[in-house]
Amino acid sequence: MVEKVQLIARRAGEIIRNGFGKNFSIEFKTNASNLVTEIDKKSEETIKQFIKKEFPGHAIIAEESGEDLTGSDYTWIIDPLDGTTNFAHGLPLFSVSIGVVKNNETVCGVIYDVMQDNMYTSEKGSGAFCNGKELRVSENDNLAESLLVTGFPYDIADNPHKTLEKFNAFVLNSRAIRRLGSAAIDFCYVAAGVFDGFWEVHLHPWDLCAGMLLVEEAGGVVTNFQNERITPFAKQILATNGKVHERMLEILQQNS
Ligand code: IPD
Ligand code: CA
Ligand code: CA
Repeated sequence: MVEKVQLIARRAGEIIRNGFGKNFSIEFKTNASNLVTEIDKKSEETIKQFIKKEFPGHAIIAEESGEDLTGSDYTWIIDPLDGTTNFAHGLPLFSVSIGVVKNNETVCGVIYDVMQDNMYTSEKGSGAFCNGKELRVSENDNLAESLLVTGFPYDIADNPHKTLEKFNAFVLNSRAIRRLGSAAIDFCYVAAGVFDGFWEVHLHPWDLCAGMLLVEEAGGVVTNFQNERITPFAKQILATNGKVHERMLEILQQNS
């Protein structure tokens, strides 16, 4: 299955790459920070058509067009363009993220970093890879020497969720923090050992599904802020190399 998921992620990536820097229509979703472009929609439509042809009957949860729940054991969870704000502003950092869930367990996750042409793949129990090369999380166990990453929810002005308090605490307790603008790529870089930890609130299943599997298959740990195992429908996410997990939980709990 992972071969087919890669194929369609690459095809969607080509649509996005061809649209990058050109004229495309942009609409607002919930507010002026939350955008969707015609390229997001084209990418999603292409992925959905592929699934319907190759895996007829499989259920689909897709960011822009919603749910098509068929009762199948398999559900595809799709972010057709993760990093829309970057894309819309001409910043070449965005991805296609596709996870496949079988009976409530993610069995396959693929994230395609479009402009770097990096294909991240994972299958349950078989490891995590970037362009075929196996990934491992970092070995660092000292938060003071950690490079962390996070993101901010689009509704931060209305629902701050103590997001800035958490950010401030981590700035003071880590080596540095980055904010890339594509949650899926944040997970890839935890899996690859670039980032030691990634936290965020109010993500959606299409932001989480593939990335969670990738981090776990690379030897990392993914929980909520109470250290409980989570599904892609969780509203809090902490994904780390495992070694800085406890210290990050402490800081998250002290600032909740
Ligand atoms: C967003 C990105 C971003 C995260 C936001 C997401 P989108 O997804 O993943 O990094 O901070 O919370 O909504 O809207 O570009 O698909
Ligand atoms: Ca997203
Ligand atoms: Ca998206």
